[in-house]
Amino acid sequence: MRRIGMLTSGGDCQALNAAMRGVAKACFNCLDEVEIYGFLDGYRGLIYGNFKMLNSRDFSGILTKGGTILGSSRTPFKTIQDPDENGLDKVEEMKQNYYKLKLDCMVILGGNGTHKTANLLREQGLNIITLPKTIDNDLYGTDMTFGFQSAVDIATSAIDCIHTTAASHGRVFIIEVMGHKVGWLTLNAGMAGGADIILIPEIPYDIDKIVEAINQRNKFGSRFTILAVAEGAISKEDAKLSKKDLKEKMKKNPHPSVSYEIAAQILEKTGQEVRVTVPGHTQRGGSPCPYDRVLASRLGTEAAKLIMNEEYGYMVGIKNREIVKVPLAEVAGKLKMVAPDASIVEEAKMLGISFGD
Ligand code: F6P
Repeated sequence: MRRIGMLTSGGDCQALNAAMRGVAKACFNCLDEVEIYGFLDGYRGLIYGNFKMLNSRDFSGILTKGGTILGSSRTPFKTIQDPDENGLDKVEEMKQNYYKLKLDCMVILGGNGTHKTANLLREQGLNIITLPKTIDNDLYGTDMTFGFQSAVDIATSAIDCIHTTAASHGRVFIIEVMGHKVGWLTLNAGMAGGADIILIPEIPYDIDKIVEAINQRNKFGSRFTILAVAEGAISKEDAKLSKKDLKEKMKKNPHPSVSYEIAAQILEKTGQEVRVTVPGHTQRGGSPCPYDRVLASRLGTEAAKLIMNEEYGYMVGIKNREIVKVPLAEVAGKLKMVAPDASIVEEAKMLGISFGD
């Protein structure tokens, strides 16, 4: 008998269900006896013992379904070792619930924060296997996270739609793309959507270079300019500030996000009409694209293989198209960022795309 716990934590994304289905199907097909316990709403379910037993029917028909059948929540790693509002030791509660159910392991699906807590639980002696989910694609140790390609598709369609209206009206348009502190999503959607200017956190921008790129387009007779701006994009000036000073400056910033700030600066410097579109959480929603369905299914079945072999303490990822296991201790706490000198950046620049640098 193998007793497996499962949870999805942090911001959701496409293909979470496909990944859990992959784990479950492979376990039900390849092991004689399996019990799967799904903890609800992320680590919260494990802390407060909120779970349900799942059978093979629960995993049927969910390959194409967005969201997560278990629900998710954010349980920040920063405060995971602090007592909750009733004085409960959250880490101890998670351990006790794991032992009470006599679990052989926990399969945890999540992004960066989730991996830090997963690694802490591993250090505390629990058997942990993780799967890399996030539309940001910022997890160290894997070339790709599931959810990312689906989000690229959605952000690209947003840029495609803006293109036609931008052309009709001869305006400057900014599409703000998610991605937290990294630019993978913006870079890929921006290139796929034919953006003229791409701004990512890893390459701080200079507003005058952005204006220069817009003016250059006007000079060559282009009636419009499309900017794909990462929600984490930062100016050269702000990038020089300490974390504390930047926080203070942001408090006084009247703009709801970096895109609106850039829009106001472009209007001021060029007199051109600027519109901002924020697709926001639509980028995390809906059905996973075929690539993510396959990736999540592969990662899930490989996680099942680790369970069968009783190999714990790994994240299952993908490297050079092959599924690999990476020690959790190596993954936790590290961000995978776009290198400013990466070939994809150079290629984008050769296409004439400005990064505002
Ligand atoms: O990490 C995934 C992500 O969608 C980021 O791209 C974004 O910054 C963040 O989550 C949004 O978080 P929330 O759903 O808590 O607003």
